[in-house]
Amino acid sequence: MNILLIGSGGRESAFAWKLSQSAHCSNLFIAPGNAGTASYGKNVNISPNDFEALKAFALKEEIELLVVGPEEPLVLGIHDFFVNDEQLSHIPVIGPKKEGAILEGSKDFSKQFMERHHIPTAKSRSFTNQTLQEGLSYLAGHTLPIVLKADGLAAGKGVLIIDNHQEAQDELKLMLDGKFGNAGSTVVVEEFLTGIELSVFVLTDGSNYVILPEAKDYKRIGQGDSGLNTGGMGSVSPVPFANPSFLDKIEKNIIKPTIDGLTKDKIDYTGFIFFGLIKVGEEPYVIEYNCRMGDPETESVIPRIENDLVELFIASAHKKLDSYQLKINPKNAATVVIVAGGYPGEYEKGKAISGLDNVRNSYVFHAGTTLEGGVVKSNGGRVLAITSLKSNQFEALQCATADAARIYFDGKYFREDIGFDLI
Ligand code: AMP
Ligand code: GLY
Repeated sequence: MNILLIGSGGRESAFAWKLSQSAHCSNLFIAPGNAGTASYGKNVNISPNDFEALKAFALKEEIELLVVGPEEPLVLGIHDFFVNDEQLSHIPVIGPKKEGAILEGSKDFSKQFMERHHIPTAKSRSFTNQTLQEGLSYLAGHTLPIVLKADGLAAGKGVLIIDNHQEAQDELKLMLDGKFGNAGSTVVVEEFLTGIELSVFVLTDGSNYVILPEAKDYKRIGQGDSGLNTGGMGSVSPVPFANPSFLDKIEKNIIKPTIDGLTKDKIDYTGFIFFGLIKVGEEPYVIEYNCRMGDPETESVIPRIENDLVELFIASAHKKLDSYQLKINPKNAATVVIVAGGYPGEYEKGKAISGLDNVRNSYVFHAGTTLEGGVVKSNGGRVLAITSLKSNQFEALQCATADAARIYFDGKYFREDIGFDLI
């Protein structure tokens, strides 16, 4: 089978690694990929949002399966584009159509969806420029801190947690005034929940689903979870505090009602649902939905899946997940992300990376890298994800952290405390 994978991060490296091991994979193409994905398949220099170029490529290479990594092409309708094109409609697409991707593409939509289907989440109200005055008085009486969220995709920057009424009111005005562009033309004002976060993933065919290994990611740049938010500095899977009874609650109170809600709302969904959850006391609440896998969670989750990934994807595309048995490796995975100095603020690219061959006990998943004249160079904020799979969590964390230290480039930084808080 000829497979086209879209994206260029650590998540796509983990997918590419796993897809390339499938008995059904004849040719794997990654658009655009990175220096790491080139060792599992062929990189193709096409942007994930250039649907026409992807079409021409899919026809030329007789692509038989399209796997979409990031959210943007899904929210923009890549699945719809393929289904509605006579020449492409036979190609199964892993990733929802626009009508499903809106669960991530609009926080206002997802809050209404959760309310409609009685899925536990923080209380909220949404405001636009037309309802600004109402919004300002709502904020004046809100308990602190207040969570303000731009409705649309804002590259992970659209959530503000504010400890002061005046500041929240000022921010609401700024957001509605275009601080996050169109993404902020509706703003969700949300109650702040206190608890510990985790990420749960399902692959669904619209009515059936398989639950993938859960993971926890570490979002802050600094040790001890301090400093600015990032795309993710590391992850672990499994998550020690997600015991079987808590996981049962997640399935009963959140996963099933979400899948049933999609059916009731007649949303045909093929692909991943990423439940960003928070454990408040012993109860799970949804912080957000994403229509894709998490990064760097995927780098910890995929190595624990023992099944052939192409078979899993085909079962989902053919709506056969009801009879699918997922085989999960009970070992512990730990991922440490190496980033460029300065990230998530300004950082430099083009630093030569050395020591990749010194890694002893881990998988190296490339994220922001490129190959220039035979040299691997940094090409993004998150540069590499180092994953160890070991029989206990401590060993996995130690190995991933030690191997992250064996790689070098100018300005490199990684957190040495990923996962150790959970032991
Ligand atoms: P989101 O983009 O919705 O996932 O929000 C980004 C981050 O903001 C989350 O991972 C949480 O750490 C935090 N956050 C969002 N909503 C809430 C909330 N209602 N209560 C507490 N923290 C939140
Ligand atoms: N690691 C969080 C995300 O992928 O959104």
